[in-house]
Amino acid sequence: MNEVTLEIDGKEIKVEKGSTILEAAKGIGIDIPTLCYHPLVSPFGACRLCSVEIERRGRKNIVTSCIYPVEEGLVVNTKSPEVIKVRKMIIELLMARCPNVKILQDLAQEYGIKETRFELEDETCILCGLCTRICEERVGVSAINFINRGVNRMIEGPLEDHLGTNLSDVCIGCGACAYVCPTGTIVLEDLYKKIRSSYPFGVVEERTFGRRSEEDEVLGIYKNCYAVRSKKGDILERAQDGGAVTSLLAYALESGMIDAAVITVADDRWEPTTKVATSYDDLKEGAGTKYTFYPSGIGISDAVNNGYKDIGFVGTPCQTEGLRKILTSDQPYSLGKEKIKLLVGLFCLDTFKQELMGFINDKITRLQEVSKLDIKGRDLNVYEKNGEVHAIPLSDIEGYVNKGCYACTDFSSELADISIGSVGSDMGWSTVITRTEKGVALLEGAINDGYVEAKELEDLKLPIRLAKIKRKRAKKETGTTRS
Ligand SMILES: Cc1cc2nc3c(=O)[nH]c(=O)nc-3n(C[C@H](O)[C@H](O)[C@H](O)COP(=O)(O)OP(=O)(O)OC[C@H]3O[C@@H](n4cnc5c(N)ncnc54)[C@H](O)[C@@H]3O)c2cc1C
Ligand code: SF4
Ligand code: SF4
Ligand code: FES
Repeated sequence: MNEVTLEIDGKEIKVEKGSTILEAAKGIGIDIPTLCYHPLVSPFGACRLCSVEIERRGRKNIVTSCIYPVEEGLVVNTKSPEVIKVRKMIIELLMARCPNVKILQDLAQEYGIKETRFELEDETCILCGLCTRICEERVGVSAINFINRGVNRMIEGPLEDHLGTNLSDVCIGCGACAYVCPTGTIVLEDLYKKIRSSYPFGVVEERTFGRRSEEDEVLGIYKNCYAVRSKKGDILERAQDGGAVTSLLAYALESGMIDAAVITVADDRWEPTTKVATSYDDLKEGAGTKYTFYPSGIGISDAVNNGYKDIGFVGTPCQTEGLRKILTSDQPYSLGKEKIKLLVGLFCLDTFKQELMGFINDKITRLQEVSKLDIKGRDLNVYEKNGEVHAIPLSDIEGYVNKGCYACTDFSSELADISIGSVGSDMGWSTVITRTEKGVALLEGAINDGYVEAKELEDLKLPIRLAKIKRKRAKKETGTTRS
């Protein structure tokens, strides 16, 4: 039998064997507070905030719901006086350690805690281990770790200068740790500024192409440049520009060049996440640009864990740079670098914070009605399913830009096998830059097999202009130049 029956807060439910109490409760809309739990990584059971009371054979116990598996006949109470007492104690202890952390202040308010009886410290890290787990389990590099024991336990991380001297050797600047950190100890903006400004670009470039680019090669080292359009009507309908990315990946999959592609999809709240695409239809789900940041590289671990061995990846310049660093360096990579076979890079000036979507939802239209977002010129165009288009001046949403991107010097994904963007081609076409033999073979094959049409592009003024702007901005805002 694969299901067990249990009762949570008086409701009888059936859930899959092996689920945790936390998952079962979430499944029926019961909210249990958590701090060290995140669905992207394995549970750890460190903070115990998710404590609940269970009753079995007349005996009551407090257990940690994020790691406690459901059992037949279990009776669970998520809000008993005992549970509230335990949670209050945990919050008080954490408040003493990290009095200025917003998530703890919010919890204190929710549980009616006005002050803590314990000695105050001034930390921000609650030692939840989410950053270490995502870096190890999902990114595969273990660039961030716990050190010391007992009261001296701390995180050795990307922002600790005194400890992170070897960091640039292993950290790929993917931002996954900042994405999951619940306390703001690791902030994407600071992390990006630090990691991107120390990225060993020249070394990785040399190992990829056999030489470093000259200063005036602002689009990086490449072989050729084309305007490309999909020949598949169903892809063109959903694509951002000419549907080159989706069509080239479809060719790569169907020709056997790769057996899976890690793409970035979005839910109806425009929240990005990754998907391992293994079919033409899967790929179509990823079509269209999500302008908000997501650490898409973690999708590689899903592909590897599902047994794929020839993996393609599409992502922004920082993401493809991170993976190229793994491919060209001797750094440890537990997921197996030989499995990453193809890097498709996107053009990108900057990404936005997810709060931008809240702004669109509140001020423009319900996100569920949005069919496409497209930055063209000085506007972000919001397309509704009913055909209406709203143009938001970029100057109005500048506050939502992920300022960490200001440290990035790469507009055109210079370290990818093939780079694809919007600027430089007519409306409805994608600009495609081939960089490696693999990139050339991909485009040639897709043309020959009728996936895309292509015409050589002579005029690169616009992408060159944006690449120069990006490098100039990095130097001005963060002092970052190419290493
Ligand atoms: C954050 C961002 C900023 C961009 N800025 C520019 C720019 O300034 N100038 C420019 O010319 N082009 C920019 N682009 C690229 C452009 O928007 C199109 O992605 C590109 O032209 C390819 O269009 P297409 O029709 O060929 O792709 P499609 O066939 O529509 O496929 C799009 C692919 O992009 C991937 N993708 C979508 N969102 C993300 C994301 N957030 N992270 C990783 N992968 C993602 C999907 O997995 C999908 O496979 C940007 C893209 C992104 C994601
Ligand atoms: S940025 Fe990525 S690689 Fe670097 S420490 Fe964070 S999760 Fe690990
Ligand atoms: S840095 Fe953030 S994610 Fe890492 S252990 Fe501390 S609070 Fe948790
Ligand atoms: S969320 Fe369960 S122990 Fe932290």
